[in-house]
Amino acid sequence: RMGRKFFVGGNWKCNGTIEEVKKIISILNAGEVPSSDVVEVVLSPPFVFLPLVKSELRPDFHVAAQNCWVKKGGAYTGEISAEMLVNLDIPWVIIGHSERRALLGETNEFVGEKVAYALSKGLKVIACVGETLEQREAGSTMEVVAAQTKAIADKISDWSNVVIAYEPVWAIGTGKVATPAQAQEVHAALRGWLSSNVSAEVAESTRILYGGSVNGANSKELAAQPDVDGFLVGGASLKPEFIDIIKAAT
Ligand code: G3P
Repeated sequence: RMGRKFFVGGNWKCNGTIEEVKKIISILNAGEVPSSDVVEVVLSPPFVFLPLVKSELRPDFHVAAQNCWVKKGGAYTGEISAEMLVNLDIPWVIIGHSERRALLGETNEFVGEKVAYALSKGLKVIACVGETLEQREAGSTMEVVAAQTKAIADKISDWSNVVIAYEPVWAIGTGKVATPAQAQEVHAALRGWLSSNVSAEVAESTRILYGGSVNGANSKELAAQPDVDGFLVGGASLKPEFIDIIKAAT
């Protein structure tokens, strides 16, 4: 992977209680994993648990919010601003997850604006892209992923604090993981898109994660693909097997 440090994100989505959070943190804290020189691990609990997770989590793992507001905070009831995340020393944020695109109507343009705003405040961004089953079956996977990525590329110039998560919607929470070949095909095409439309340097250095039904058993083979630079894990990130997924880095 030529200098692209393996990255494993755990997206807890809208799950957990204080008791459950404490339990999974103590399991993860005890897990033996490769050093942070080899793998970057970032956990993304719901907003309300961020301070708890941040204070209890081992120092070699980091935290991410699952969303933030698109501009400076103010009269936006129910939103959490990028400034607040910075104030709480939360280094990462997930932007444009397919659940927010599908359920909350986030458009490509809105996602691009959010990524740009979060970066401008000093946050690091996990930007999500991916096609639906219908789009894949229509043969438009790369067209969809390129349009989602272009909306981000149109708004930013510095990619050094961005990782892209390719999450095919049909693989999310379904147990229907993409085959290593399917993941590699899209990751390579996406890297090619970055090379042609942003720069060769950005294409080489930007990490592209795979997400969608990753588990302890399938992570090793996916990680062996040359353009798979890590994972964004949902369900399995709430279980002890998350440790096995982190170990797939080596
Ligand atoms: O963001 C990660 C996610 O959407 C994948 O979820 O449960 O299929 O691993 P899951």
